[in-house]
Amino acid sequence: MQEFNQYQTPCHVYDLNLLRQTLNVVQTESKKYNFKVHYALKANTNEKVLAIISSFGLGADCVSGNEVKTAILNGFAADEVVFAGVGKSDEEIRESLEANIFCFNCESYEELEVINEIAGELQTTARVALRLNPNVDPETHEYISTGLSFNKFGFSQAELERFFENRTQFSSLEVIGVHFHIGSQIRTDQPFINLCKAVNFYLGLFEENGIHVQNINLGGGLGINYEEPDREPIPDFANYFQIIHENLSYCEDQQVHFELGRSIVGQCGNLLTRILYRKENGDRNFLIVDAGMNNLLRPALYNSYHKIERLSSGRNGLRQKYDVVGPICESSDCFGKGIELEDSKRGDLLSIRSSGAYGQSMELNYNLRDRAKVYYLGE
Ligand code: LLP
Repeated sequence: MQEFNQYQTPCHVYDLNLLRQTLNVVQTESKKYNFKVHYALKANTNEKVLAIISSFGLGADCVSGNEVKTAILNGFAADEVVFAGVGKSDEEIRESLEANIFCFNCESYEELEVINEIAGELQTTARVALRLNPNVDPETHEYISTGLSFNKFGFSQAELERFFENRTQFSSLEVIGVHFHIGSQIRTDQPFINLCKAVNFYLGLFEENGIHVQNINLGGGLGINYEEPDREPIPDFANYFQIIHENLSYCEDQQVHFELGRSIVGQCGNLLTRILYRKENGDRNFLIVDAGMNNLLRPALYNSYHKIERLSSGRNGLRQKYDVVGPICESSDCFGKGIELEDSKRGDLLSIRSSGAYGQSMELNYNLRDRAKVYYLGE
């Protein structure tokens, strides 16, 4: 507590020991089944965080040329980098081929044509996995649901048929796998079971068309407990990998991959903020804090819940309900409505919990605001 008082706010605070403990569990549980886990950089690209994750031997899942470069610069092996995304530019493709990454997760027939052409120009062979759209409902927020047939992601059945018909034309491609990602913040087993059923169907389809894929990438999506982060600081990776192992029909010569983001870094970060002002409008008590939606966009963008706690010690035991809002000129700049906290005032410190994933990485400079400072525990 003392040390938090010295921090300049707003600030992201990372618990690096929790990150290490989480990674230990990820590696222990995934290795039981010989699964390969890639860290989805989009969740957090803080360099200290990346250095620790790469030191545990995870691969990287990237969605832009800059993420590919950042991964390699921060210790991830190029031959363990996968590159996904519906809109890879020619330059990003060229640079990733030159870096000799493990695999492109391709999202459309036209993208296969472009990668094939660029690989041909560079006189190399591109390893690709086809991202298939399995039409599985992840039962999560619609903005982070990606595996339904009307989402923009992945090959449709029709495009896949076209690939089977014309696959001999792609002389500079080696199709080494299939890729899926149905969505994010998935907190129940059923969507993953449904995903496995869909993957089993597609593996059969590939076999029927004479392709025995070597790599099966199931993407990410395992959720975290935003309501009670201290009850579940490390997600239940044992259950997750077991569910996949039990429901996926794969052979010994097929490598199963994952791209986990939120579940690895989500609980390791909190956003600390100080109360600037307190005021009443209508029947509401507002706490106006020095962090804004530019520092943590999730509540404004997805109406998502982050637990808010007071770090300053209690003063009179009284509790009140507050709307905790930021300084930005948008009504959506709100971290929580009707949040019950001890009587709070200007200068008190609050912690907005579970911001390690999609917090700092989605930070903006809207209103020309500064980025939040960053501090580390357990360095
Ligand atoms: N693989 C692919 C292809 C993805 O699109 C994503 C996330 C992941 C892996 C990692 O998913 P995770 O394990 O983190 O669920 N900004 C949103 C989340 C967007 C997720 C986008 N894709 C949020 O703050 O909730």
